[in-house]
Amino acid sequence: MQCDFFLGATSLILDGDASILSLQQVCINGEEISGDTKMQVEQDKLTIHNVTEPAEIRITTRFNAKENTELAGLYKSGDNFCTQCEAEGFRRITYFPDRPDVMSTYTTTIHADREKFPVMLSNGNLVSKQKVSSKDSSMHSATWHDPWPKPSYLFALVAGNLTATRDTFCTQSGKNVDLVIWTDPHNAHLTAHAMYSLQRAMKWDEDRFGLEYDLDLFNIVAVDDFNMGAMENKSLNVFNSRLVLASPDTATDLSYEQIESVVGHEYFHNWTGNRITCRDWFQLSLKEGLTVFRDQEFTMDLHSRPVARINDVRNLRSRQFAEDKSGMSHPVRPISYEKIDNFYTATIYEKGAEVIRMYYTLLGKEKFRKAIDLYFERHDGQACTTDDFFAVMSEVSSVPLDGFERWYTQAGTPVLKASSEYLKDTQQLRLSLQQVLPTPPEAHPVEHMGPQFIPVSTGLLDDNGNDLPLTSYSYQEDSGQTITTTVDQGTTTAVLPFKAFSGEFLINNVPQKPAAVSLLRDFSAPVVLHYNQTAEELQHLAKHDSNPFNRYESTQKLARLAISASYYQESNHATTFNEALATTHGNALEREDNSKTVTKLDPAAVAQMLSLPSIEELGPLLIQDITDSPKDPLLDPLLLNGVRTQAIQTTAEAIENDLLQTFNATTEALHQLEYEPHGVQTGLRSLKGQIINRLVALDEHKHANRAHAMFETATNMTERMMALTALSHSTSNYRTDALDQFYQRWRTEQLNVIAWLGVQARSEVVNNVSKVRALLSHESFDMRTPNKVYALIGGFSTSPANFHAADGSGYEFLADSVLAVDQINPQVSARLLGPFTTANNYQPLYRDGMVQQLLRLERASLSGNASEIVGKALR
Ligand code: ARG
Ligand code: ZN
Repeated sequence: MQCDFFLGATSLILDGDASILSLQQVCINGEEISGDTKMQVEQDKLTIHNVTEPAEIRITTRFNAKENTELAGLYKSGDNFCTQCEAEGFRRITYFPDRPDVMSTYTTTIHADREKFPVMLSNGNLVSKQKVSSKDSSMHSATWHDPWPKPSYLFALVAGNLTATRDTFCTQSGKNVDLVIWTDPHNAHLTAHAMYSLQRAMKWDEDRFGLEYDLDLFNIVAVDDFNMGAMENKSLNVFNSRLVLASPDTATDLSYEQIESVVGHEYFHNWTGNRITCRDWFQLSLKEGLTVFRDQEFTMDLHSRPVARINDVRNLRSRQFAEDKSGMSHPVRPISYEKIDNFYTATIYEKGAEVIRMYYTLLGKEKFRKAIDLYFERHDGQACTTDDFFAVMSEVSSVPLDGFERWYTQAGTPVLKASSEYLKDTQQLRLSLQQVLPTPPEAHPVEHMGPQFIPVSTGLLDDNGNDLPLTSYSYQEDSGQTITTTVDQGTTTAVLPFKAFSGEFLINNVPQKPAAVSLLRDFSAPVVLHYNQTAEELQHLAKHDSNPFNRYESTQKLARLAISASYYQESNHATTFNEALATTHGNALEREDNSKTVTKLDPAAVAQMLSLPSIEELGPLLIQDITDSPKDPLLDPLLLNGVRTQAIQTTAEAIENDLLQTFNATTEALHQLEYEPHGVQTGLRSLKGQIINRLVALDEHKHANRAHAMFETATNMTERMMALTALSHSTSNYRTDALDQFYQRWRTEQLNVIAWLGVQARSEVVNNVSKVRALLSHESFDMRTPNKVYALIGGFSTSPANFHAADGSGYEFLADSVLAVDQINPQVSARLLGPFTTANNYQPLYRDGMVQQLLRLERASLSGNASEIVGKALR
């Protein structure tokens, strides 16, 4: 490769991992060097002395890719070779300045057995292909050249017996790009959806951001063994096969959606990540937060914006808010790490995307685009920081962004406390706001923490549920000066720029007392909102709010209040909120008179309104005081799970007939339609799935047969899995029958087998741990395949009843599994440890059980990846 990296010192220090590499030869300008005075090899580096001028350095290494079970560097997946170099995999291939700010151009020549490896790929363009390699007559060779300078983490190489699915894309300037998706030959028929997703992504990036692809070829390779989702290597994306392959019988609606979004995500990295990369790994969110924001917008523009927003917020709350309450809590721009691979987190990705979304909310669509244009104009070809990005946004924003930068540096989820009062005399609504920041982990002293800039999207509803028009709002600054801001005419949502620890906004010209205040519309900031609202106000909002997100949020809030009241045994409140919740669920199911539609509202949105907040979402909220009155800072997960299930049952009981009616209506409507993974039918299926779960949870004796019938008549994987999931939590014979049938029918399809392992692992049936242990030795399970490990072991940890079993068997199972996986793949074992990092949130019975296992792990000699997480879980 052509690399201008030069330290100016007399020694060249190159990264390399001696646990896998064996160094064969080093030549400088054609001459071999050896001996301690010339060079030194250590565990993690190679130092070459006396390199004072630009030189050609040739380094030869050997390693065994077959035994590379960590799946970092160059490794074998099935019969094929592939690479994963982000973050620090390139140093497992050769010695190199393996850091993102060293950008080089690469020319790659591959020599391989002609029969076994007919396909040989690397980044950029194919320069030449030789039928007979210069090395050996049974080999052939190929040379690739990538003209774009890039950091080593974007290098890729693939060799194997792969089949191509080909198509093209014509760019906005009229250039034809060849698109190829490479798979194992028997999977080539499963690539159509990924190909179409890629074409849509390329078009969308042109339309929405003016960004055009910059080479003549774009490859995607699907591999079965992959630690994460996918990787944006320049022009040679490597994907976990579950995010490429799809057919109605192997993929659910959700998988189709994920494929589209991840294909988009990796493609979008070509500009946000590859053309402009990161100066160092502390800046990881510069590319990941921004690219997640872009893939979220892609989904929103292609499908339903509110439905997508709700999914994104659910995901943020259950994963990132939980992370903020764990030993792994860290800022969007971390201040330290032991293993960078442990920092591909919900905070870097999802909270990072929320930070970008706040810029977007504050600048508005047009100015945001202007700022992004400026970002590319100024920084194309550079390795940048989040400060560079902030500077560009600040320059273009008409709202001063002071305090915004703290979103990058301060860890944790802020609590936004709000109260409101109608001032009749002056016809104003007073909104008092306060932000409370979490106590940060050591390294970052509290006294340095300042208020974060929180955009608060606000609207007011009248008694009929209509939005009140807004004209202006006033804010009293610390200096005592009052500033009045006019809002655009016709606007019914104002974005209040709240940047102090506490302050008051006065919304002017409000002629009557609003029936309800709609705060934080579209979830305009990643905060926990504390705002006292009555059950009536919440019902009013759930029914009428013009902001679909807040309609959803109001039902969620009713559910949170109902669950928290039961949890704390406040039976009066519990009854009130449970009743209100059942009523809103009933309302959501309402169908239009004389109409063929199943529900008045978008069925996908109804499904979301019916779903209760997950345990992961509720946990942090309960201990951070859901109702503004902290009761017990330590969580009882079994009690929480129990009251949540109760809430599901109570509300289902109250509207059982509505549920049954809608269940039948969705069945009938779906029966008329041929399966497609998009459009209104996906909403119908998600509603149907939601309902069957509720019904079986309500009374399995009465409803398990319905789920079984749904399973047997299903014509697609989505409904099959929904029925199987509902049955998986029951103890009825239907459960075993359906599981057996499923395995017999689909055991040759890897993705189905993985889903089958997962659904059994997540079961809430008590003592499921022994079943899951038994599955470890099932013919279909393989500890070396990350997808299977995540499904079975990772899946098990999400079952509250079994993971938190009072006898500690769930914790023991996780620790045993981590010990076994860690020998094979440290990145995977470290990820499995996630559920232990919240140990300190739980009551002693649970916490001590987890700590006991963590101490056991600490005594074992774990990998660096796993021990970093164990250490953080214990602190
Ligand atoms: N950059 C990839 C993506 O988000 C993630 C790769 C992370 N891999 C790793 N081993 N840490 O698209
Ligand atoms: Zn990414």
